[in-house]
Order: sequence, then structure tokens, then C-alpha cells
Amino acid sequence: MAPFDMRCIECGKVHEMTKPIYACSSCGNLLEIAVDIPSVQRRLSGNEWRARPLSVWKYRELLPFGPETTIYSRNEGGTPLIACRNLAEHLGLKNLWIKFDGMNPTGSFKDRGMTAGITKAKDLGMGIVTCASTGNTSASLAAYAGLAGLKCVVLIPEGKVALGKLAQAMMHGAKVVSVKGNFDQALDMVMKASDSLGMYVLNSVNPFRIEGQKTAAYEVCDQLGGSAPDSLYIPVGNGGNSAAYWKGFKEYEGLGVVDSRPRIMGVQAAGSAPVATMFSRGSDTLVPVSKPDTVATAIRIGNPANWKKTVRAIRDSEGSCFTVTDEEILRAQKLMAKMEGIFAEPAGAAAFAGLVKDVTSGAVDRSSKIVCVSTGHGLKDPDVAVGQSERPVMIDASVEALRKVMEGL
Ligand SMILES: Cc1ncc(COP(=O)(O)O)c(C=O)c1O
Ligand SMILES: [Zn+2]
Repeated sequence: MAPFDMRCIECGKVHEMTKPIYACSSCGNLLEIAVDIPSVQRRLSGNEWRARPLSVWKYRELLPFGPETTIYSRNEGGTPLIACRNLAEHLGLKNLWIKFDGMNPTGSFKDRGMTAGITKAKDLGMGIVTCASTGNTSASLAAYAGLAGLKCVVLIPEGKVALGKLAQAMMHGAKVVSVKGNFDQALDMVMKASDSLGMYVLNSVNPFRIEGQKTAAYEVCDQLGGSAPDSLYIPVGNGGNSAAYWKGFKEYEGLGVVDSRPRIMGVQAAGSAPVATMFSRGSDTLVPVSKPDTVATAIRIGNPANWKKTVRAIRDSEGSCFTVTDEEILRAQKLMAKMEGIFAEPAGAAAFAGLVKDVTSGAVDRSSKIVCVSTGHGLKDPDVAVGQSERPVMIDASVEALRKVMEGL
């Protein structure tokens, strides 16, 4: 068998990887890249891959590209897995890490998927790439499109994209289109228009994006010295990243690099929580949220495109998906920043907020190995950060005035 093929997650139909397609031609369901472990093992054997520095392309043989493919990279991945001793002590935990994927080149985990997605776009000979985005995807796509010399059109929901992300997409040279609607409507437009307008879609329905993103799970295991955590807390928006992590953990276990897999604990914002609602109701069907709302604009998604993948991932892993309120997200964001020096955007604090909630309710084994994924950098959303912080104190330019301020420390 070939090391990789592209299959429908529902009916298993195999699709050609040489065409820009995002859904099964028979049943319309999502596609994924199936990995044949023995063939990949052969690709890996006899080379020094384990000794390479951490990055998405450390795992090149585990990705669906041949050795001849030209790669478009900004050295993404290799992000720190931070041992959070202060937060662990604060919560009474023994082993807590934050995987800070906000340290990627454009400040979010999307770069992992985009290096793979843009590499595929070039391989397919596409000239224009597109996405709908709550902000980070557009920032990342714009950067990688520029790197690869591709035209880029990004659709964003009007007025709901954090300032830093908008600045990135514009600076990197994308055509930024503001849609009078929400993310779900923008994605719907992209999916309907891409074929006729000759654009390659790089939302997470594109299975090559997921392939890049799964490397974060390999990295976590490598950074833990060749073992998987017991649980992984991760924000869920469209559901691509949680599915990607699960895929990565399963493959690493299949290859015998690790001997266990974590429970995937999906966290959604209470105002945008269709997947969490499925779990609380024990339901098998997704009911979209028509007017999603949350301070964590990156996960302000009411109709997650990858819901089937993430629900399967979470269930297979014996994990769960639940909600946190905006207040809990903001409190977690501050705690991470103050106690560990990790500045995450609100969505990038949602996973940790979920862990805090689970610890408070007694749902966590305090000696277990826990990793929270922080998906995006805090500088992306300066308005939220400034809005919840104490204003600077204004003083005269004198030491006496400064002394007075110090009295209040
Ligand atoms: C910072 C951040 N966190 C989490 C997510 C959610 O990821 P996914 O849509 O893959 O579930 C996004 C998606 O836009 C994001 O930008
Ligand atoms: Zn199918």
C-alpha cells in the first residue's frame, strides 16, 4: 500500500490527492489523509529523523509529500512545551505543561497547517489561495501565500477580527474581504465559490492543513521524552486542531514511539458551544448555534466544519468537550500571563480555563500528566488585553511622585 491516501471519513472512498477537493464525491463527508503505518515506518527507517531539531518538517516522512516536493516553510513548529510550576502549585497539580503554539512565525498554530497547505497548493499548481477566517487563518495564509508567490483572498466576519490579526493579513498582502455576516457564512461562501473562481481553500476542511497540524502532537511526545500526556486540554472552534492532535497521537502510538494516548478534553466558549452541547446531551447530531458570541473571537464559530472529526477524536480518546464562560477565559488569560509569563490571546487561554474548571470540580487526577494547548499569542488581540488590565498611572516627572506610586504596591 502507498504510505498515504486521501479517504472519506464516512464511506472510506479513496480520492485522488492530485486534485483540489475537500469533500467526498460520493457522500459529501470530510476527507482525511490515511497513513499506512508499515509503509511510513519504511520511509523512516535508515534515516536520522529523531535527531533533527523540532519543527513541522522534522516529521517530513510522516507527511503526505514526496522527497521531491518543494517545501514552503518559515521554520514553523518547535514551539516550547512550558513546564508551568507556578500554575501547577496554584492548582495543586504535579505535572502541568502549556504547549505554547502562539510562538509560531505568525503567532498561532495555523502556521503548522499552512506550511503543509501552501506546499500542497504549489504542488497542485494553484495560483490563488483563499480562506474564511476568524483572524488567525487569514494572517497565516497571507504570510505563506506571500512566501510562495501566490495570490491570496481572505474573507473575515465584519468587525469581529482582532486588530493584530487584521494588521497581519493586510501587511502580508492579502486581499482582505470583510463579509457582512459571521464566520460560518463566510466559510459557506468560500466553499461555494472556490471551484468556479479557481481558488484553493485552506480552511481546516483541507486535509493537508490537518497533516501539518498533527505534528504538534508528535512534538509534545518528543518534548516529554518519548511519552504521551494523560490528558490534553484544547480549544475547539471548527474542530480541526483537536482532530489533528488526536491523529498525531494515534500515529505516534502506531509507530511505537509512545505507548499510550491522552484523553482529548475539548473546551468551547459558552456562547459558541455546539460541540460541547452534543456531549452534554449525549447526542450524535450537531445543532449549529446561529449567533455565536464570545470574547475569544478565534473560536466564535457556530457551525464547526470539522465537527464529525473532533467528536470522533474526543470520543475515541475517552475525553470530553465542555464549556467555559468568557469570564473564566479572561481570568485564565491573566493567570497565565501573570504567573508564567505566557501571553495568550483569549482563545489561547480557553484550554487552561477548562483545566481550572475541571480542577475546581474535582474532575482531575492531580498527579496525572496534563498538557494545555495555547493556540495563539496575546499580542494578536491588544484590545481585549488592555480592556481587562489596570490603566497606567499618570504622574509628574518627579521621584517624589514615583515614591507615592510605590506606596501602593
Ligand atoms: C487561537 C485559536 N485557537 C483555537 C482555534 C480553534 O481551532 P479549530 O478551529 O481547529 O478548532 C482557532 C481557530 O481559528 C484559533 O485561531
Ligand atoms: Zn464518502
